[in-house]
Amino acid sequence: MIKRINNLFLLETKNTSYLFQILPSGHLEHIHYGAKITLNDLDNLNDGSLADCMLEKQAFCPGNSIAYSKEHPMLSLEDRMLELSSLGKGDIREPFIELTYSDGSSTSDFLFEKAEIQTGKNLLMKLPCAYENLPGTVWTLIVTLRHKEKGIKMELIYSVFPKEDVITRSAKLYNESTANVQIERLLSLQLDFDKNGFVFTTFNGAWAREMDRSVHVVTSGRHVNETLTGFSSNRANPFIMLGNMSTTQESGECYGCNLIYSGNHFESLQVNSYGKTRLSVGIHPTGFSWQLKPGEVFESPEAVITYSKNGYTKMSHNMHDFIREHIVRGTWKHKKRPVLINSWEATYFRFTEAKLLKLAKVAKDTGIELFVLDDGWFGGRDDDTTSLGDWYVNTKKLPGGLKRLADKINDMGLMFGIWVEPEMVNEKSQCYATHPEWAIEIPGQEHSLGRNQKLLDLTNPLVLDYIIDQMTTVFESANIEYVKWDMNRIFSDYFSTSLLPGQQKEIGHRYILGLYHIMNVLTLRFPNILFEGCASGGNRFDLGMLCYMPQIWASDNTDAICRAKIQQGYSYGYPASCFSAHVSGCPNHQTLRMTPLDTRFHIACFGLLGYECNLPELSKEELAKIGDQITLYKKWRDVLQFGDFYRITEGDGKETQEENQSKTYQWLCVSKDKKRAVAMMMQTWNIPNTVYKKFVMKGLLETGIYHFYNIPQKVNVKDFGSLINAMAPVHIKQDSLLHNVVARVMKLEGEKEDYKAYGDTLMNCGIRLAPSFGGTGFNEQVRVLKDYDSRLYFLEQQE
Ligand code: DGJ
Repeated sequence: MIKRINNLFLLETKNTSYLFQILPSGHLEHIHYGAKITLNDLDNLNDGSLADCMLEKQAFCPGNSIAYSKEHPMLSLEDRMLELSSLGKGDIREPFIELTYSDGSSTSDFLFEKAEIQTGKNLLMKLPCAYENLPGTVWTLIVTLRHKEKGIKMELIYSVFPKEDVITRSAKLYNESTANVQIERLLSLQLDFDKNGFVFTTFNGAWAREMDRSVHVVTSGRHVNETLTGFSSNRANPFIMLGNMSTTQESGECYGCNLIYSGNHFESLQVNSYGKTRLSVGIHPTGFSWQLKPGEVFESPEAVITYSKNGYTKMSHNMHDFIREHIVRGTWKHKKRPVLINSWEATYFRFTEAKLLKLAKVAKDTGIELFVLDDGWFGGRDDDTTSLGDWYVNTKKLPGGLKRLADKINDMGLMFGIWVEPEMVNEKSQCYATHPEWAIEIPGQEHSLGRNQKLLDLTNPLVLDYIIDQMTTVFESANIEYVKWDMNRIFSDYFSTSLLPGQQKEIGHRYILGLYHIMNVLTLRFPNILFEGCASGGNRFDLGMLCYMPQIWASDNTDAICRAKIQQGYSYGYPASCFSAHVSGCPNHQTLRMTPLDTRFHIACFGLLGYECNLPELSKEELAKIGDQITLYKKWRDVLQFGDFYRITEGDGKETQEENQSKTYQWLCVSKDKKRAVAMMMQTWNIPNTVYKKFVMKGLLETGIYHFYNIPQKVNVKDFGSLINAMAPVHIKQDSLLHNVVARVMKLEGEKEDYKAYGDTLMNCGIRLAPSFGGTGFNEQVRVLKDYDSRLYFLEQQE
């Protein structure tokens, strides 16, 4: 709900309040964002006076700060909490807006003009944004401000999503003057706090190391989370959190914030000289400048904020529900996602139709539902130096084209999907030979390549039409039900032949707008295709992409141990229904690590499950196990894909590297109706004689009785190595033929866990699990949990 009470604006969600006011000077002053406050419940005090105690009192300009005006000589903007701040009128913190006018000046001053409260949610003009899922559930406030002398109008747009405890913000700038104005920055969100010492959590990384949670306590100066890669990037995801030193997963205050944008972003946390903190979020101002001509409008992307007074878990749940309900759209929004086999790590560029069909056949036999043909099917693409841009089938590899392959795969009872990377071009391609001017590069200057490829110039309408036409032809050429949309380099050598010299700093943003245009056309044209975003894994994992593609390939790192950390990082800001995770071969192709097949599945099933390995070369035993995994996953898929996720053993983010390496992950996913749950425990390093493990549940019905159980995993006697001789009647040489025969015929029973208990017991006391093997002692009640071993547990509410 949104209320205006005199000069106050109160935005309310189920558990939070956001309050600001119009100052006598016309500036917008922020008052409160956090847990709920009440302003007008008393009939006779419906005048806003109940807010008086919260208003900042200023009776003089402190120190050598700037006095705003003769009319308001006691107003100093330097230390006021503001909804937006511009340069040059005394607020010397990070500005929300920075403009250069035709006279060369760059001082701006935006003052209140009017406000309008609407039901519903307007969409942005060219940028993706959140939407109202059910009529009458979202409210919007549009506050109009004006820089009087310069004829520039700004709208601050607030939308309130009560159920998910989310507020979104964006801004629009209208040039109502007769001269050009240069936008040096227009951010999306400014949020001022009257305290400092926030724990600023960011998710940093690189290729194959996405979403590494890092914490920074900011008591002075500034910490910036940012990327200049041209994309939202794996270096610094746009999702950030603010907490207190004492905030835990389950308790304490915290804010989560994200930006619905796929390009360069900027999240700055700055503490001023008086100890107040400003969070500023938006398009990165570096390398950005936009010429706004008279009559034109510029809109900034939408920022998303949420608050929880019950720790990081609740904050994550707000974000998860918001993304599922108000970001992801289309046919696949609530639909269970299929289990897939992807050809990449199985074959890379080296495949024939026969090889793919063999892979598909074995996949089908294990219960897989979708076959995805990855890179290498088009042009002369036998390696990554060639053919991007030439989207016609390589008939040497696929003589019957995509159609014949797809038909045969469909005949097996599998869906068919395909990989594309439409935003790119290789120099070695017909596309580049015909249209070198379509690439982003500076004419006459050597171009710095990334993965041997160049970006196509998505600021050029001809290029947009080309990509849309090419992709339409591909998607219509066979029964394609899934598309993996990849993007494998970052920006360099920014230049577009289709833009004037004065517009060259618009390229980054125009590229992203071009991409959104393509995605919009194609997703509307092919509403039933399941699109999966990808950018060398998670180099463009953001809410902008999720507005078009319901899921994203989270990382090229398929190693389960690394993945546990990466997926746990994503879980802070994104629901499991948004990230895919694959079981791959061993040794793993990124780390060369050996990890049990059970563990690879246990980690991957907490994302959208797929397989990415050469199934026909696996043993019968492994294939049977994969078949069982998929059957199990299908039974629990609705819980795992759409339930509430809990990080049970996660610490405060300040662990040492060693602590992190010896971590035991415990995850839990509870169905929305709280009747079913899946839990996972994975140990990284085994430390001897630490046999005690407990699992404390969350999110269950306190009064519900649950059946908690595992499916016992068989123990391989070879896991004990030469220890077998402590029991064996004859000596068995390690790895000898006899050892292998014994291991094949004699599987030891793993521990069984089977309890019934009330939800409150499971949550308030927890389950004391069977003891781990601790260097001594073994029987069927002992859990053999080596390095990288894991367990799944299930909970079902009893009638
Ligand atoms: C990068 C992706 O992240 C991989 O999964 C794979 O599709 C390759 N590109 C193909 O070139």
